[in-house]
Amino acid sequence: MAIEPPIDGVLEAFIVLLPAFFANAFPVVVKGEKPIDLGLKFIDGRRLLGDGKTWEGLAGGLSAGCIVGSLTSLALKEEAAVFLALVASAGALLGDMAGSFVKRRLGMSRGAAAPPLDQLDFYVGAVAALTLAGYGLTATMFLLYAAITVVLHLAANAVAYSLGLKSHPW
Ligand code: CTP
Ligand code: MG
Repeated sequence: MAIEPPIDGVLEAFIVLLPAFFANAFPVVVKGEKPIDLGLKFIDGRRLLGDGKTWEGLAGGLSAGCIVGSLTSLALKEEAAVFLALVASAGALLGDMAGSFVKRRLGMSRGAAAPPLDQLDFYVGAVAALTLAGYGLTATMFLLYAAITVVLHLAANAVAYSLGLKSHPW
């Protein structure tokens, strides 16, 4: 099958978004220690991003997303899938960092619940990056997967919490 913009099919959207889900989930397992913001503070005196965004998580998330993209690329004989996986994964991780930046500016500590930001920051980041790369989603696909993302994210985090991987169930 050919992945061609705009992404207007349920399966096509699934293929381009799957790496982003892995890129966002993998850092939770990595549990890194080196903060991306190097402990630096913003002009408001609060941390730039906080201890929940680490270099290990960033590298692990990017790798996980690219591996998933490479596998789907091989399985579907779709060359563009590798490049799109890198784009979507980087977008997802940047979106997640942007979400933490906003939370810190609002005075929220690491791990504090900020719905729907916690659920959608990585998703919006991934779709924005795909759009910049010329592979935007139609509005219908964007909304459909936004809804799926919220449900999946809440379910996955509840599982991660019960397994002791996360300290909060969100
Ligand atoms: N994580 C990481 N590096 C990243 C992203 C996530 O190491 N780039 C890990 C951290 O251990 C983090 C966990 O994954 O605590 C869960 O991620 P997330 O829910 O996004 O972070 P929070 O701890 O909730 O922090 P924040 O309030 O900044 O969202
Ligand atoms: Mg969180």
